[in-house]
Amino acid sequence: MRRSLVVGNWKMNGTLASAESLAKGIIAGLGENNADIAICVPYVHLPRVSELVKGSFLALGAQNVADKASGAYTGEISAAMLSEFECKYALVGHSERRSYYGDTDESVAARFCQAQEHNIIPVLCVGETLEQREQDQTFAVINAQLDAVINLAGIAAFSAAVIAYEPVWAIGTGKTATDEQAQEVHHYIRQYVAAKDQVIADKIQILYGGSAKPDNAKGLFAMPDIDGGLIGGASLDAESFLKIYQSI
Ligand code: PGA
Repeated sequence: MRRSLVVGNWKMNGTLASAESLAKGIIAGLGENNADIAICVPYVHLPRVSELVKGSFLALGAQNVADKASGAYTGEISAAMLSEFECKYALVGHSERRSYYGDTDESVAARFCQAQEHNIIPVLCVGETLEQREQDQTFAVINAQLDAVINLAGIAAFSAAVIAYEPVWAIGTGKTATDEQAQEVHHYIRQYVAAKDQVIADKIQILYGGSAKPDNAKGLFAMPDIDGGLIGGASLDAESFLKIYQSI
């Protein structure tokens, strides 16, 4: 049986004061440790939030990681830097990174490897745009996004990774994929991994992301290949994030 995971992606929101109160609110309401839970906070809030999460089972993550180890890469943050703040996870290949900041399949694969070199679990985000879905390109897009990482890191690397399926048309739009639409793609991803390694496919956590909310999380999480969620907007409120966590 796979353990479920809910990850909050705070994106570029909040101040240090609001990050502290949100983290404290989540920790206060955690309840039973029935599933994994993490928050991916802005880089500059990692030092403070890493102190707050100590002693709780709320894990910490970053929203990206550099594709290089160190050097003259102005504005980048390395995996080694993240590991000093007990980052358990790092998102790689979020669609906002891919579409606004030019992260390519190849650089996402390099980021994935950098995270793993420092024992950080990469959360590899994949997903199609509306146009790609309408042109029946969903599976081809996902194949290419997965292949770039598999080719560089090897399939064995997925034993210490998470995949997040995030249809771009559902992110921040209020349009959630139906339970069946999401399950179809999750199943496809698991089969794709299984064709290369059945043991890893059975074990890997595949999260759904895209306008997941307290009122639709239960249905999504009940699907056999959906192992939890990557939550944007609804993770900025402790109560709604915890409700989603408790829907597992
Ligand atoms: P959303 O974002 O929940 O606000 O749609 C999800 C994400 O981008 O990870």
